Amino acid sequence: MVAYPKVYAESLNDPDRFWLAAAGAVSWSRPPQHALDDSRPPFYRWFPDGRLNTCYNALDRHIEAGHGDRQALIYESPVTGSSSQFTYSQLRDEVARFAGVLRGLGVEAGDRVVIYMPMVPEAVVAMLACARLGAVHSVVFGGFAPKELAARIADAEPKVLVCASCGIEPSRVVEYKPMVDAAIKLAPAPPSAVVVLQRDQARAQLGPRDHDWDELMQKAEPADCVDVAAADPLYLLYTSGTTGKPKGVVRDNGGHAVALAWSMTNIYGFGPGDVWWAASDVGWVVGHSYITYAPLLVGATTVVYEGKPVGTPDAGAFWRVISRHRVNALFTAPTAIRAIKRVDPQATELAKYDLSSLRTLFLAGERLDPETYHWAVERLGVPVVDHWWQTETGWAIAANPRGLQPMPIKPGSPTVPMPGFDVAVLGPDGEPVPQGSEANICIKLPLPPGTLTTLWRDDERYVQSYLSQFPGYYATGDGGFFDEDGYLFVMGRSDDVINVAGHRLSTGSMEAVLAAHPAVAECAVIGVRDSLKGQVPKGFVVLKAGVNVVPGVLEEELVKAVRRDIGPVAALKEVTIVDGLPKTRSGKILRKSMRAIADGNSEPVPSTIEDPAVLDALRTVLAPRE
Ligand code: COA
Ligand code: AMP
Repeated sequence: MVAYPKVYAESLNDPDRFWLAAAGAVSWSRPPQHALDDSRPPFYRWFPDGRLNTCYNALDRHIEAGHGDRQALIYESPVTGSSSQFTYSQLRDEVARFAGVLRGLGVEAGDRVVIYMPMVPEAVVAMLACARLGAVHSVVFGGFAPKELAARIADAEPKVLVCASCGIEPSRVVEYKPMVDAAIKLAPAPPSAVVVLQRDQARAQLGPRDHDWDELMQKAEPADCVDVAAADPLYLLYTSGTTGKPKGVVRDNGGHAVALAWSMTNIYGFGPGDVWWAASDVGWVVGHSYITYAPLLVGATTVVYEGKPVGTPDAGAFWRVISRHRVNALFTAPTAIRAIKRVDPQATELAKYDLSSLRTLFLAGERLDPETYHWAVERLGVPVVDHWWQTETGWAIAANPRGLQPMPIKPGSPTVPMPGFDVAVLGPDGEPVPQGSEANICIKLPLPPGTLTTLWRDDERYVQSYLSQFPGYYATGDGGFFDEDGYLFVMGRSDDVINVAGHRLSTGSMEAVLAAHPAVAECAVIGVRDSLKGQVPKGFVVLKAGVNVVPGVLEEELVKAVRRDIGPVAALKEVTIVDGLPKTRSGKILRKSMRAIADGNSEPVPSTIEDPAVLDALRTVLAPRE
C-alpha cells in the first residue's frame, strides 16, 4: 500500500489543497480559489466562489474537445425489445432541445422539476436538461405509489413534472399517468405543466395541463448552459428516514462534479471511451451518480438498461448486454446477482457469452454476503468489488480504490475510507470503540465534496437527523467495525431503515399505513432476512379490543393498503395478527429483539422488558422460515 494512505492522509490534513487539485478535472466558468467554506458550521459549502454548469461538464466540453462522435449512451430494453445509441453530440442536442422545452414552460434556474419515469434515455435527457438550465430535478422512483409521489411534489413544489405514459414490469404494464394525476390531486401546490413521453405499450390521455413530449420537442429551441454557483443545488433526491416523511437530500453542483469525477478515475479506474454499466434505476442515488452523471463527466459510455437481471428474457440478460456492448464494468446490487444465481446456479447462461471486456464487478446498496461474493468471483473470473455508500453521501464512503491502488479484497468488507471521509466507530457515549468492536459508524465533519449539503428547506431536520446524536459527526445509521488492517466492515442499519432488493425503505412509513386501519390498535414492521432480496418487511398487528375478523381478510387488506399508499416497491407481502407486541416498561416496542428472533440470532432480551411472556408467545410466528 503506497498511494492510498498518502492520498487519504492529504485529504484530511489539507482538504483545501486536495480538493482544489481534484477540481482541476472539471471545467469551470469561474475556477474556485477556495475549496472549503466552513464559515457557518455545521453547514459546510464546497468551492464557494466557483461557477460552472454540470451539463456542460457532462456533454458539451467533450464535444468541444473533439469527441462528439464518441458513444455517450446505450439504451438496452429487453422488456420492449428495443435498443438505441446516442453519441455525445446527439445526446447534447436532445438535452439542449428538452432544456428549451422546459424553458418554454417557464422553468428557470433554481426551479424544481419532478421526473417520474422508467429506465428510458429520456429520463437521463430530462435530468441533464434541468442541470443545463440550473434547475433542480427531483427524480421519483416508478415503484412508488401516488401518495408518495404527492408527498415529494408537496415538498419540492415543482414548476413542471415530466413522466412517461407507462413503465414495464415483467408481469404488467404500469400506467404512470393515472398515478401522476392522482398525485397531483393530492398535492397542495401542483406543477403547472406535465410533459408526457408517450410509449406505445400504454398511451396516456392528456388533459389541460399535459403536453406531449414529442410535440414540444419538435417546436423547441435548444437552450444553452446556464452558469450557476458551485454551491447551488443540482438535485433533490428523497430517501427514507426513520419516520414516514421522506427526506429531501440536497446535492450541490460543484462538489458533486468534483467528487464524482475523482471517484470514476480513482475508485472505478474508468475514463474516456470505457463502457460503463450501472444496472440500477435513475430513481435511486446509484442511478443519479453512476448512470447519469459520473460516466458522462469523464467521457465514458453509460448503459441505460430497462429490465430485470433474470426473465428478460432469461438468466443470461446481463451477460448478453455485457458481451454485445463490450461493457468494461458492471455496477449493481448483490440482490441482482443472487437473482441470477437462483435461476442459473451453474451459470450455464454466462458460459454462452464472451465476457472478455469485463474488468470488474462493483457491488453496493446492501451488504454483500460472502456466498454471493464467491459465486460471482468464481463464475466471472474478475475482481468483485464491494463498496459502501448512501443516498446522503452520493459516492462511496468506503471502497477499494481500483484506479488509485487496488487493495486485497476481504469478503464482507467494502474496504477502506475514501478521501475526505474521516470515519470513526463510536459507542453510545460518543467515544471511539476499540478496533474490532462493532458500534455506530460516524463521519467527522465536514463531509467531503459531493455529499448532502442539507435537507430541502429543512436545516433543522438535517441537524436533528444526522448531526445531533454525536456532536461533530455525521451519524450514518449503519453499524460496523474496523479490523486490524483498517478495513471497515458494515454490518447493517442501527435504525428502522431496511434494505429490500437494494431499495431503501422505511418501516416507519409502513407502520403508519397499518396503524391507520380502524381495526389496528398497534403494530410493528420489521425487516427480516431474505435469501433473494437481502431483507423483506414483515408486519405484526394487534387488534383493537372487541374487533373480530375473518382469518386472512384483514391481513390481505393491510398488505394491499401498503401497496396502495407506498407502492409495490415496499414489497410487504406478510402481515400477522398477534395478541401483543413486546415492549419495554416505558412502552417502546422491542423491534430489535423481534428482528433477532426472526433472523435466528440470539439477541439478549433487555432487562427493561415489560412482559417477557409476550415475546415468548411471538417466537413461533417470528421463527425464520425458508
Ligand atoms: N415501477 C413499477 N413497479 C416497480 C418498479 C418500477 N420502476 N420497480 C419495482 N416495481 C415493483 C415490482 O414489479 C414488484 O411488484 P410485484 O410485487 O407485483 O412483483 C415490486 O415493485 C417489488 O420490486 P422488487 O423488490 O424490485 O422485486 P422484483 O421481484 O421485481 O425484482 C430483483 C427483484 C432483485 C430482480 C430486482 O429488485 C433487482 O434487479 N434489483 C437489483 C438492482 C437494483 O435495483 N438496485 C438498486 C440499487 S443499486
Ligand atoms: P441508499 O441510501 O439507498 O443508497 O442506502 C444506503 C444504505 O444501504 C446504507 O446506509 C447501508 O445500510 C446499505 N448499504 C449500501 N451499500 C452497502 C454495502 N456495500 N455494505 C453494506 N451495506 C450497504
